[in-house]
Amino acid sequence: MSKPLLTMEGIVAGYGGGDVLRGVTFDVPEGKITCVVGPNGAGKSTVMKAISGLLKPRLGTITLRGEKLVGKSPRQILDLGIVQVPQNHSLFKDMTVHENIDLGGYTIKDRSKVSKRAAAVYDLFPQVRGWAQMKAGALSGGQQRLVEFARALMLDPKLILLDEPSMGLSPMVLKSVFDAARQMNANGATVLLVEQNARAGLKLSHHGVVMENGTVRLAGTGREVLEHPEIGELYLGGAVKKA
Ligand SMILES: Nc1ncnc2c1ncn2[C@@H]1O[C@H](COP(=O)(O)OP(=O)(O)OP(=O)(O)O)[C@@H](O)[C@H]1O
Ligand SMILES: [Mg+2]
Repeated sequence: MSKPLLTMEGIVAGYGGGDVLRGVTFDVPEGKITCVVGPNGAGKSTVMKAISGLLKPRLGTITLRGEKLVGKSPRQILDLGIVQVPQNHSLFKDMTVHENIDLGGYTIKDRSKVSKRAAAVYDLFPQVRGWAQMKAGALSGGQQRLVEFARALMLDPKLILLDEPSMGLSPMVLKSVFDAARQMNANGATVLLVEQNARAGLKLSHHGVVMENGTVRLAGTGREVLEHPEIGELYLGGAVKKA
């Protein structure tokens, strides 16, 4: 596995009513797709919030290529190249797709750079270019996800955090959203994905992390996690048999 882009070590964090994360340690290898799976309430979204700076851990360290993230503001973390696509749909529904995508570049001061980035993003997702003048609220759930990905790419992030991108989508649409995640990765971004749809998420990923009750139960290649007998029984409806 390649060297880690991001390292999380001994993270303890919560929302004031006790710890939700109870010593979380794992690596996100550079240039790869990492998938975090685990039951509802395991702390997956909380891990994402700790990385993006929305939640300040009580203990532990998170580093991006050795640079400490804990203590930095969400804006500082964004400027270091980490962009989060949240679990719930987050587009401004009364604005056009293009206006929404433009907002993804709001921290870029040079306006000509913003249009260059938008052009690059449309090149990666040509179907999104076709929706540019439509109101975001008129798109289907799967289409809105792609626009959210496109918006996240405006800053050309090193690391993209995707929290349950397939939530509420039909299996066919799910495939197009996963294809888009793969495309972003092929285009150079490291991807950290949380997926309720564990089997499909792990198949897509190079690296898998299983969370349970605020800790990491198992980490390994996507295949190792898929083929792990106990994990398979618990979370995947039976392990995938070794070929
Ligand atoms: N804003 C909040 N305030 C208080 N408690 C919270 C908050 N957000 C999450 N929690 C609690 O923290 C725990 C972990 O939640 P988290 O959202 O990280 O789980 P998850 O693994 O992402 O679950 P899901 O699969 O349902 O998205 C849960 O017990 C939840 O109730
Ligand atoms: Mg969640």
